[in-house]
Parts: sequence; structure tokens; C-alpha cells
Amino acid sequence: MTTVSPIHTARSARSANTARCTVVSSDEGVPLVTGERVEYANFDYAASAPCLTPVAEALAEALPYYASVHRGAGHHSRVSTEAYERARRSAARFLGTRPADAVVFVRGTTDALNLLARSVPEGCTVVVFESEHHASLLPWGHPAARAGRVVRLPPPATPERAVEAARAALRAAPEGPRLLCVTAASNVTGEIWPVEELVAAAHAEDARVVVDAAQYVPHLPFSLEATGADYVAVSAHKLYAPFGSGVLAGRADWLRDAAPYLSGGGATRLVTEHDVVWNDLPARHEAGSPNVLGAVALAAACDTLTPATQELLHIRESVLLERLRAGLAGIDGVTELTLWGEEHPRVGIVSFTVEGLPADLLAAALSAEYGIGVRDGLFCAHPLTRRLLPGGHAQAVRASLGVGTTGEHVDRLVGAVADLCARGPRWEYVDCDGRLVPVPDPGQVL
Ligand SMILES: Cc1ncc(COP(=O)(O)O)c(C=O)c1O
Repeated sequence: MTTVSPIHTARSARSANTARCTVVSSDEGVPLVTGERVEYANFDYAASAPCLTPVAEALAEALPYYASVHRGAGHHSRVSTEAYERARRSAARFLGTRPADAVVFVRGTTDALNLLARSVPEGCTVVVFESEHHASLLPWGHPAARAGRVVRLPPPATPERAVEAARAALRAAPEGPRLLCVTAASNVTGEIWPVEELVAAAHAEDARVVVDAAQYVPHLPFSLEATGADYVAVSAHKLYAPFGSGVLAGRADWLRDAAPYLSGGGATRLVTEHDVVWNDLPARHEAGSPNVLGAVALAAACDTLTPATQELLHIRESVLLERLRAGLAGIDGVTELTLWGEEHPRVGIVSFTVEGLPADLLAAALSAEYGIGVRDGLFCAHPLTRRLLPGGHAQAVRASLGVGTTGEHVDRLVGAVADLCARGPRWEYVDCDGRLVPVPDPGQVL
């Protein structure tokens, strides 16, 4: 079997400081339907991770100074411009960029991949696995995208088959530019994809590779230089920093030759009555007033999560993940979703179904009766999730871990699933705008 190791980094190994890796959370606990309050057991990191303490500190420091970036002569504008460009350097370091790579601030991974879809050379063939998150599956076919052909490959049965299928599809593509889009870690199963092998196969066919690392970088170090990948896309809100910021980093040429992603101030060098001269990278694709606080927050997360720190956090998380998976595996009627089997390396994500309990009811009961937050549904990866669901299930529940997860949270989740499996929910739940809510609801805030 292809060994899928964590994507090692070329970043200099700075010392680990896991003591700084705590998350900001309310200590008021969350209400249960019984009226009690318990500590919130957040198992929804893969949707959005809570803010790291150093991120909150960096934001608090930046707040008194934030002002327009690259526009003003005033002191605060100069401070903000410096903070914004420093943030770009932090993101570059975190993603292991090469000296000539572009680092463009975007709103998140979806935005990053849509930007790339509009920047590939006209007529480019894009190869993508159907198992991708919709953010990496769909942008290539958008009317504004420049791809000439999108080849969708079925979810591969093994990592080796993924590499073979990608190589074959790229080889069969017509002459011209080609791009392979691949996720580093699945948001459904947490399984780690063989990125380095896929990059090698694609490069052998003269194709480029973009890595959707949204779910990977919160858990493990990633490096463009070390993997050889051509582009990487990430989101701040999965990386312990608030919403609204992300990065597309990678080869500058396609991005430089493309039309600006948005038209407006900042992306322009000169505008006359008849003509526009667009800016070079990265400003070319950053029209509008930049999200300086988003960039500062993202950079603080990047600076906190050094490779050494991430490796220690990963060891801790792996212990918790195994405890969770073993606990769930011991409950009759629980089925874990997996593409490549139980032994395949993964980040802290586990999706599962429970016999006789629809996912939405299970998720609602976990929240209302146990103070546990999970995600239910098809996780914006409909083709993959549908394919992995056992018969009779329309949706699954996803539990995802991060730096604030504790052993007590894991044990509470396993105990709650076992209870719900054995006895069912203790409360009534009704549909309210498409979500199940408990009735009566004496303890809840809403
Ligand atoms: C693997 C993966 N890619 C892309 C995205 C989209 O990220 P965003 O919503 O921040 O654009 C997600 C979000 O869940 C994801 O899990």
C-alpha cells in the first residue's frame, strides 16, 4: 500500500509551544433541556474551529489601530499596511511557499478555488475526484471559470488507485494546460490523501496540482515546497481564526496573466476615461478594502501553529481520536464512514451513522440532552457522503476534534451515543425551519 505520511514541511523547525494553544470559549457552559448547564463539548471543529488564545490577543492588539491598507498616509494606515504584509509573510511561511510563489488573501478556501478556476489558462483540463468537498468540486464548471474540460473521477477504492486514475486521466487529456485538484484530508472521513504521490504523477504528465488543505492544515504541517504542489488553498476559520479570511498560494504565472478576480480599487494601477491598467500580484486579485483584521488573525494562527507545535498537537489528537473511534466501534449499530478502511491515516474527523436513529435526531439529542455539538448531513460533499452511507441512511453525523477537545468530551460523546442507541432520545423533537429542536425547551436560550 502507498504509505500516506503527514505532509512534512520544509519550514524551519521552530520550538513547540503547546502551552499557548488554548482556545477561547465561554466558561458559562451550555444549557441542557433539563435546565442544567454543562461544559460545551465542541465536536464541530471541521466546520469552524474556535479562536486560539494568541489569535484573540493579536486581534485585540490590532483593533485600536486598524485602518485602510495600502491607501492612507496616516499613522494607523501605515501600521495596518505593515501588519497586513507581515501577515502575508506569516501565511507564506506557514504554507511553505517558494520564493516566486504568490500569496493572495481571499475569503476562504471556496473563494481561493474559484479564483484559481478563473485564472487557469483558457481551455485548461481540470481533473478532480468526485469525493471532493463542493468547494473543490464545483468551481471548475462555473460559467466564469476558464477550464475547457472538467474530468470527474469516481472516488478511488485505494490511495494507489487514486494515483493511477489521476495519472491516466491527465495522460488522456488533450494537449495543453492541465490541473489536478485534490484534497489533502477529507472533510467527511478525515482520511489523508496521497498528495506527494499525486503531485509526482501529475508532474510526470506535465500537469499542475492544487491542494485543498482546508481540513489538513489545522492538524498537520503542510509545505508547497516540500510536496511540490503548485497551489494550496486554506481557510482561517478552520485554522482557529475567525471567518472571512483565507489564502490561495502558489505559482504566480497563471494568476498574473488572469483578469482580476474582482474589479475595483486596489486592483488597479491607473484608470483613465478609456482604459484601466491593472495591478500586479497580489493586489491584482485583492480589489476592495482588504480584510486586515482577518489577515492578522490568520497570521497569528500560522505563527502559533509551528511545525513542532502541530506535530505535538497531532500526537495528542490522535490519542483522543483513537479513543473516540474505539468507543464508537464498541457500540452495536454504529457504522463509521470510510473510503480506505479503518487503518488508513486520518486527521481528527469521524463520520458515522447509528442504526435506527436518523442523523438529524441524533445530532439534536446530543446537543439538547448532553451539551455536545456535532454536524449532521452530507457535509458539502454530497457524492462522497452518499456513496459511503450504509443502506437505509440518508445522512450521517460528523464529530471533529481540535485543540480544545478533552478526554471527558470524548467519553461523554461515546456514552451519549451508547445511551441514545440503547434507549433513544428522552425528549420530543420537532422540525423548526428544517432543524429538529427539543420541545419543551426549558433550558435552551432560544
Ligand atoms: C475540505 C474542504 N474544502 C473546502 C471547504 C470550504 O471552506 P470555506 O467554507 O471556508 O470556503 C471546506 C469547508 O468545510 C472543506 O472542508
